[in-house]
Amino acid sequence: MSLVLDGRSTMFAESLDSGAPIALWSPHAGRNLDSRSPRGTDASGSSRGPKSTSGSTRERPLKHSETTSEVTESMATKAPATTSGRTKRPEDDVVCVDLFCGAGGLTHGLISAGVKVRAGVDFEEACRHPYEANHEGIAFHQADVAELEASTVAEWFGDAEVRVLAGCAPCQPFSTYALRYQKDEKVEDDQRWSLLNHFGRLVRELLPDIVTMENVPAVTRHSVFNNFKRTLENLGYKVWIDVVDCAEYGLPQRRNRTVLLASLHGDIKLREPVASEARTVEDVIKEMPVLRHGGTDKSDRLHAASRLSDLNYERIQHSKPGGSWRDWPKHLVAKCHTKSTGKKYPAVYGRMKYDEPAPTLTTQFYGFGSGRFGHPTQARGLSLREGALLQGFPKDYSFIPEDQPIQFKALGRMIGNAVPVDLGRVIGQSIIEHVRQHSDSFADRHVQHVDRDPSSAHQGGRNGREPKSSAVHT
Ligand SMILES: C[S@@+](CC[C@H](N)C(=O)[O-])C[C@H]1O[C@@H](n2cnc3c(N)ncnc32)[C@H](O)[C@@H]1O
Repeated sequence: MSLVLDGRSTMFAESLDSGAPIALWSPHAGRNLDSRSPRGTDASGSSRGPKSTSGSTRERPLKHSETTSEVTESMATKAPATTSGRTKRPEDDVVCVDLFCGAGGLTHGLISAGVKVRAGVDFEEACRHPYEANHEGIAFHQADVAELEASTVAEWFGDAEVRVLAGCAPCQPFSTYALRYQKDEKVEDDQRWSLLNHFGRLVRELLPDIVTMENVPAVTRHSVFNNFKRTLENLGYKVWIDVVDCAEYGLPQRRNRTVLLASLHGDIKLREPVASEARTVEDVIKEMPVLRHGGTDKSDRLHAASRLSDLNYERIQHSKPGGSWRDWPKHLVAKCHTKSTGKKYPAVYGRMKYDEPAPTLTTQFYGFGSGRFGHPTQARGLSLREGALLQGFPKDYSFIPEDQPIQFKALGRMIGNAVPVDLGRVIGQSIIEHVRQHSDSFADRHVQHVDRDPSSAHQGGRNGREPKSSAVHT
């Protein structure tokens, strides 16, 4: 049994000792969580600081508690000790279930901030390997969120002091493309769209302390998102929403994303960026071994670049960092480029610049023709590993079992769709800070009657609040 879980069980026992009327779900109900130590890996890959010349390195998976204490030490004040000598602070037991967990970008960032991620859910079985291989002791559940029962999620939370439900639903139905070319009702018809409603359903039934989600900036223009927000407000959550540029938070990539944070315990928001956090393409990929197009590095098979056609090989040799097809001699320019439609996409077939953050990575970042994804100095597109580093993953993050072949399309989707690790870390830090600032409100729960039974949660809110009617239609 891990020390972390041991500590939590002790806290639970102490709460009972104090005679507080608690009606929590049984910590031993359902799966035997105690047999799994929630250990994670350090996101030292996100080791920032100006001009670190390589991506991140992580020699071995660190115990979750190690990472947690490092972060907690830097952020928190000294904790009051309990009579047993153990610390007893709500921020020490912030537990998250990550819906739509993918390869684990958000989870990895949250862990590095001190959040204990207990479980990840995704319906793609291919996500199991990266999720579990990089986060020892955290369970991956292959499931459709639309069919997920609140009672199951409740079991995963166990007796957590502070419960965080994260749900970064697929963003494609909310993209600018969808907005431009589909009517809102059409977007609403998209099955993936209703996943946000299911996230709302789970929030309504579970009433987690904190809710978070990330999506494309355009998500706020869809009624499904506004319904989701209204649901949270009606349930008594304080909701914070903003579009953030991840490059301000240490991601070596320009990536604007809508972030939502909501809490039942008071105002919550994303922490402010710090100027010294900024990183560039050079900071994370310059030290990567030189590679030819179509080649794979001997020591890291994820450092693999897609093969270029003869034409594209010639084109990239004429491309300038930050430039486009406009830099090429005429005979290399395709007809579609010179048409007015082509002119709208000058970044296509460009190289990225070393001294700036990368452009927003898509799921096809490994393709030279898919955006400004050419390597700054070598005649090739980005390797899969370089894409992962630009998404904030550590250098040795494992995405695929050793005995499986590298597939650019599947891995590109997993990496390109991830919540950047740096953003996950900042979300985690903001949550921990919020819990610390509102520790009285979190601690109060132990002297109030709290009914966390999902079957009755919609009838009575936590902290004595009565949730109003829900605006989410499921
Ligand atoms: C934006 S990605 C999530 C990225 C992930 N949070 C990360 O940080 O790496 C959305 C994920 O939702 C998953 N997904 C889509 N529909 C789903 C469903 N109905 N149930 C569960 N997962 C689903 C996709 O497989 C994909 O991995």
